[in-house]
Amino acid sequence: MPIDPLKIREDFPILKRKVNGHPLIYLDNAASSQKPKQVIEAITMFYENHYANIHRGVHTLSQEASEAYEEAHAKVARFISANGSEEIVFVRNTTEAINLVAYSWALRQLKPGDEILTTLMEHHSNIVPWELLSQLKDIHVKYVGITKDGVLDYPEFEEKLSQRTKLVTVVHVSNVLGTINDVRRICRLAHEVGALVLVDGAQSVPHMPVSVKELDCDFLAFSGHKMLGPSGIGVLYAKKEILESMSPFLGGGGMISKVRFDTSTKKCKIDWNVLPWKFEAGTPNIEGGIGLGAAVDYLSSIGMEEVRRYEEELVSYALKRMSELEKIKIYGPSDPRMRGGVISFNLEGMSPHDVAMIMDQSGIAIRSGYHCAEPLHDAMGIHGGTARVSFYIYNTTSEIDIFINKLKEIEAII
Ligand code: ALA
Repeated sequence: MPIDPLKIREDFPILKRKVNGHPLIYLDNAASSQKPKQVIEAITMFYENHYANIHRGVHTLSQEASEAYEEAHAKVARFISANGSEEIVFVRNTTEAINLVAYSWALRQLKPGDEILTTLMEHHSNIVPWELLSQLKDIHVKYVGITKDGVLDYPEFEEKLSQRTKLVTVVHVSNVLGTINDVRRICRLAHEVGALVLVDGAQSVPHMPVSVKELDCDFLAFSGHKMLGPSGIGVLYAKKEILESMSPFLGGGGMISKVRFDTSTKKCKIDWNVLPWKFEAGTPNIEGGIGLGAAVDYLSSIGMEEVRRYEEELVSYALKRMSELEKIKIYGPSDPRMRGGVISFNLEGMSPHDVAMIMDQSGIAIRSGYHCAEPLHDAMGIHGGTARVSFYIYNTTSEIDIFINKLKEIEAII
């Protein structure tokens, strides 16, 4: 069924509010999405009826909570076509998922001289962990550049990929340019030299069908809060055999099956819990996981093909209307089929923060700055950042029209 945005909007209580006297137009979805009542109700329902700690009690509430939390893992596994819940680790967010791979896999597996290949299109969360790692180990982080159209430089990628590359870590959809990277091709090429691939799916999993089987990636990281779910819950997918070979990231309760004290050696012997609990130390964000499960249900009921189709329509419309302006510079691929629902731009003669502040006075929420991707802005020679609109299933072409009218008003006073 084609998306009916007006019907969808009914599910999002926040969209009824006014900001600065104007109906809210929320175009900051790449930073975080709004939440439908189905997600809010799932969390309330859990708190009101089933709340208890998980995997720690034989009593009814603990059993119910454990089942709901486990079912949320299973929903996420189906959503990205993983083999099962063992491959789904709940973490706080994409950043934590990437750090988990850095400390549990890369720190232990990489040897002096090994290389990590990444790109200049990455969010800081897919740059800083690897740079930190290179301070602990003699490994090299290499960066693949982008073309002037904001597309990954694939010939440079192939040139820099070598037998020394042990990990390729790449964003699926750029949070600045919107560029959709050909992750499948990247995985195939990386695997040919024996490297593993981590995909930052923060901007792809919420907006398009993503199948880890089709991509054949080794790790996939994404966040719940960008896909209609709560904040503080995210996902690391990894192939089962890789997770099995890895040591835990954080130690504590819940991630062990046995901890014994040997009185003769005066040492503790620890057996890890089964997957995925081996990687979920301490009391997790139980309600966050359940809320994420509800968000997955909501998106699945619409269908991710349809989510993607509708957003492509919005981007295509917005790109067309934005090009009516004279003092605008739009970044990233011009073909809407090659980009996600993100458009970064600048108005000549006005800082992106001023553009965002003027928009806010009319109730229009957009983001401005470097979007946690300063190296990308440096590579494109942009100083002072960019303004960015980003769409989701509840945005409409009428909202885009209001945004464009405001842009035109701003252009007229520059
Ligand atoms: N990474 C998020 C963004 O692009 C916060 O806005």
